[in-house]
Amino acid sequence: MKLVKTLSILGIVTAGIVLGACRAGGEDQGLEFAPQMYHSVAYEPLTQITDESQGDWLSNREDEKGEFYNSNIYNPHNMNMREPVENTVPRNKNGYLPYRLKAFELEEAALIENPIELSDEVLDEGETLYLQYCSSCHGAGGEGDGKAGLIIGGVANLKGGAYINLPEGHIFHVITKGKGRMGAHGSQITPESRWKIVHYVKQEIQKQ
Ligand code: HEC
Repeated sequence: MKLVKTLSILGIVTAGIVLGACRAGGEDQGLEFAPQMYHSVAYEPLTQITDESQGDWLSNREDEKGEFYNSNIYNPHNMNMREPVENTVPRNKNGYLPYRLKAFELEEAALIENPIELSDEVLDEGETLYLQYCSSCHGAGGEGDGKAGLIIGGVANLKGGAYINLPEGHIFHVITKGKGRMGAHGSQITPESRWKIVHYVKQEIQKQ
């Protein structure tokens, strides 16, 4: 009998909590079961909670502020970060602009110069990368005789014909976007590594 009573009380309490959570609407988000999952302890870049007592009912922060307080006092614009100036263009850590050329824009790509300075070290790295990403089709020597290449068929012989004169930007573009039967490798190989491969193809594979 006692067990039944306990169970029914437990049931009522659980139902109460569950129903309580349902009253969300408008500004009211209802009960939160694990508030720390919704409220970032870290700075939120585009918002600020400036009320130091927000969430103090569950806070065990060392600075004794509420759990949800997350403001950078040096930036008062209701954001912990500032929005970039209009028309700001992102660059990567090497200062490269985003690569926006489409797969068919080979002529434009051909005008781009290799930004990586040539050195023995770069050629060594280029060789490793070439063997890793290209030789399966193009062959270690670039003659289009890699094991996968023989099965795929129609792989370019990088040592032959018009391929010898391909501009560096063109090769970079083909690695990045793919061409014809060759798939794009832009998502697998960083731009820096692609340019190193280009140096290797030009300096070692295509040197007569
Ligand atoms: C899965 C096989 C495969 C891999 C891996 C591969 N290629 Fe290719 N590649 C091809 C094929 C096939 C072609 C011929 C494309 C066509 O014209 O249809 C080609 C063509 C090319 C061309 C000539 C492009 C042109 O203008 O006609 C270059 C340059 C080239 N590949 C470089 C590379 C480099 C550098 C790598 C390594 C990052 C690489 N490829 C990896 C299969 C591959």
